[in-house]
Amino acid sequence: MFSLLSNPSIYLYVQGLIGAKHARWECVRQFTSYNPGQRILDIGCGLGYVIEYLPESDYIGLDTDQRYIDYAQGKYGRRGLFFCQELNDETMKDLEPFDLIIMNGLLHHLDNRSVIALFKRVKRLLKPSGRIVTLDGCYVEGQSLVVRKMLDLDRGKYVRDEKTYVSLVSEVFDSAVSHIRHDLFWIPYTSIVLQISLP
Ligand SMILES: C[S@@+](CC[C@H](N)C(=O)[O-])C[C@H]1O[C@@H](n2cnc3c(N)ncnc32)[C@H](O)[C@@H]1O
Repeated sequence: MFSLLSNPSIYLYVQGLIGAKHARWECVRQFTSYNPGQRILDIGCGLGYVIEYLPESDYIGLDTDQRYIDYAQGKYGRRGLFFCQELNDETMKDLEPFDLIIMNGLLHHLDNRSVIALFKRVKRLLKPSGRIVTLDGCYVEGQSLVVRKMLDLDRGKYVRDEKTYVSLVSEVFDSAVSHIRHDLFWIPYTSIVLQISLP
């Protein structure tokens, strides 16, 4: 089943059905304070469609899946730059600081060590007034068995609870605001949005 999702068209169809695109839109609208002209880094950009909600942005998307990047490049290549690479010391060398760094659906694909290493890197790439916004699935007490099962079955093997996500942030940043949301998707689903900024 998971291998089907590496096909961009099937992935996009499923994302549309469950309201994942809507969740990204709400996330941009409610949590990013985006203004046209801002420099955006989207790590784990997937098919790149979040750019539709960031008009006139100076956008760079990174993803490790070549098929997704090819799709994003084909559809949005005039509006942003897309690279098939992860963020590491080499790839971040040439990047200027960003106003907004987005990681939608990325953290739950990374183990704790990788999340902390990634946070350390993005911290160096953020403008002093900049903001990081992440969106992931989240375990919470009392959530329905259906939602819990969906989180268990996620392609990302590191879905966490709120306390664990926040404790990872606090390894690198002084403060973060976390929001638990049950309404961002069109299916029963629990998300956590983290807003991180520099002091
Ligand atoms: C759940 S998808 C989310 C895609 C997109 N952000 C969205 O909102 O639809 C997670 C993405 O992270 C990418 N990914 C996983 N590990 C990565 C890494 N270390 N660096 C960059 N991208 C990564 C995967 O290829 C996948 O496209």
